[in-house]
Amino acid sequence: MKGQNFYLKGIMPNDDGANYKELSAEEREKLERFKARLELEKRIRERMALIRHKVLVASGKGGVGKTAAAVNLSLAFAAAGDRVALLDADIHGPGVPLMLGMADVRPTGSGGGINPVAYNENLVVMSMAFLITGDADAVIWRGPLKMAMIDNFLADVNWGERDWLVADTPPGTGDEILSLAQRIKNVDGLIMVTTAQAAAVASARKSLTFAVKTGVPILGVVENMGPFSCPSCGHEVSLFGGGGGERVAADFGVPFLGAVPFDPEVVAESDLGRPVVVTRPESPAAKAWLAITAKVRELVSRRAGRRME
Ligand SMILES: Nc1ncnc2c1ncn2[C@@H]1O[C@H](COP(=O)(O)OP(=O)(O)OP(=O)(O)O)[C@@H](O)[C@H]1O
Ligand SMILES: [Mg+2]
Repeated sequence: MKGQNFYLKGIMPNDDGANYKELSAEEREKLERFKARLELEKRIRERMALIRHKVLVASGKGGVGKTAAAVNLSLAFAAAGDRVALLDADIHGPGVPLMLGMADVRPTGSGGGINPVAYNENLVVMSMAFLITGDADAVIWRGPLKMAMIDNFLADVNWGERDWLVADTPPGTGDEILSLAQRIKNVDGLIMVTTAQAAAVASARKSLTFAVKTGVPILGVVENMGPFSCPSCGHEVSLFGGGGGERVAADFGVPFLGAVPFDPEVVAESDLGRPVVVTRPESPAAKAWLAITAKVRELVSRRAGRRME
């Protein structure tokens, strides 16, 4: 701590600790970096203090429905009157704007920060897709740059006062999810999305193990794309089987948050920016997302209550 104070004053002790010398150019650069980091952490702390709950949506395998989960959960919270910040933390493959029909939107800046884009009066969104031009633009960034972008999303977006921050992440447990958990500090928990397919369940297990090891709290598991009734003959169709999500939740001793049936219309609708909880709230898939949202709300408030005791 004492050393830090010396650094902040631009001086540092000589080897004997009694006298002081001016900093060298190298030391000065180190000092500037140190000050910038403190400043960034302060901005993140201040912004995150205005957001009551923070949840991360993750999966082991790609394409299992993380973005669908983040979008439908956010919309369900917002429909209940909560103020929601939806952060698309998938830097390489941001999918939130397309699913919300916001693909051509560009954010504005104000007060030294960047304004998230409003989907409706309760839901604001930020995504890398808002910041790059053209569909085919690839973001070819290595870990440190991605982490710096996550830092910016947390420190420099004018999220304002919110009840929820919902963060969508890329598959696996990489830089983005670690960065989020480390920077936000008081994450309420991670929602692990999987299908019942053996490969997806195996990856979910790996990611859950990683979360346990790194101390990220786990809210529970969602099984997506489960069995559904065929719209023409009413027969039950099962693409991946069922029950894998429930088993993995039991094995890790975490709640099973619910199963969402596969809905053949969802694929086309979500490419058109028509999320199922908004367009067909009476459908089995929408009802499942709404029930999962209610469970997340209950779990988070119960845990937050326990922390307050
Ligand atoms: N329950 C469902 N029924 C039918 N289609 C679904 C369902 N859930 C998601 N999808 C569709 O499956 C595709 C993949 O979903 P989504 O993009 O949410 O997955 P993801 O895990 O975020 O993928 P990625 O790893 O690429 O980020 C999308 O087209 C989405 O609309
Ligand atoms: Mg996604």
